[in-house]
Amino acid sequence: MTDATGHALTLAHITHRFGEFVAARDINLEIRPGELISLLGPSGCGKTTLLKIIAGFQRQSEGDVLVDGQSISHLPPNRRRIGIVFQNYALFPHMTVAENVGYGLAAAGKPKNEIAATVEEMLAVVQMTAFGGRLPRELSGGQQQRVALARCLAIRPRILLLDEPFSALDKNLRLDMQIEIKHLQRQSGITTVLVTHDQEEALSISDRIAVLSRGHLEQFDTPTEIYDRPRSLFVNTFVGTANLIPGVLETKTAHDASIRIGETVVVVPLPGPVAIGAPVLVSVRPEALRLSSSPGGLPVRIAAVLPIGPSLIYEALLADGTPVKVVQDRAGSDAALSDTAFLTIMAHRISGLFAKPSQS
Ligand SMILES: Nc1ncnc2c1ncn2[C@@H]1O[C@H](COP(=O)(O)OP(=O)(O)O)[C@@H](O)[C@H]1O
Ligand SMILES: [Mg+2]
Repeated sequence: MTDATGHALTLAHITHRFGEFVAARDINLEIRPGELISLLGPSGCGKTTLLKIIAGFQRQSEGDVLVDGQSISHLPPNRRRIGIVFQNYALFPHMTVAENVGYGLAAAGKPKNEIAATVEEMLAVVQMTAFGGRLPRELSGGQQQRVALARCLAIRPRILLLDEPFSALDKNLRLDMQIEIKHLQRQSGITTVLVTHDQEEALSISDRIAVLSRGHLEQFDTPTEIYDRPRSLFVNTFVGTANLIPGVLETKTAHDASIRIGETVVVVPLPGPVAIGAPVLVSVRPEALRLSSSPGGLPVRIAAVLPIGPSLIYEALLADGTPVKVVQDRAGSDAALSDTAFLTIMAHRISGLFAKPSQS
């Protein structure tokens, strides 16, 4: 699949309206050759609309789609050399697996021997060589998924688009397929855009993640940056488990801010876009908190303890009733923890400081 490798994909100022409704608002993405990126966001945020715009099934209201710096916006879908696998696979039910995989090549009038060779190659890539003569209904969901992928790759697309490709699979199979896709993508080097509403999937599989909310691009960054340095409250709460601890910003410098939380003041190494005296939400992941039986930090009441494999997850309630999740190693955990305890925030591991929305 050497011709599939190394194509850059750019979305430049893409806006899309359905009547009055804005499904995508001034989206800019520069996807590097060979990258696997995810479009991540809740249902209805515009993910599928963007994929359709890239593939050419939907013409954007404004903006441009470019491959290797060349605009493809004027091209119909079949001339873009972009492969798309839809959520429901959409295999042709009356055709065999081999016929399905060869369909695009047959439609393009390729000679029979070339089609047969490509079908064989693609079935080998997705480990379905033995199934060429079967009908789709004789396959499991995961196998149908592989055939859909092989059919898409057979036309040797420059870009691969996958719309929620794992959502119909059960949990174990999903993990297998995620690993397989990642392998295949690495091997072939094909630039890939994956749509998902599953934050764990996006975090584990992507080189970079574009987080979308209501047609707006909130952040485009590596999984680690998205997790450790979410740029908005939306990204912070959508990705990972976030504890949002209310406080008041007391003082700040160019490098840090002092936040009063109850009787305690925490110095946070983030100035944040918040004014002095303003109510804030301090975001701390469960693994950036420590519970102890000895005084110091914030007094809490322990509401629940859940042993999960090697970890303990505590639900602790702050003095004002705010619930906070804390993860600790079972081995390193304080055995004396009972009803009341003390919570320390590891200030250097705080993931965000956000203005408190006036509603909450
Ligand atoms: N053909 C259409 N006509 C009108 N509204 C649409 C159409 N397609 C999608 N939408 C709306 O655009 C928004 C984004 O849809 P979509 O891109 O399918 O979201 P996602 O894939 O993130 O779930 C939704 O609110 C949806 O109702
Ligand atoms: Mg969708």
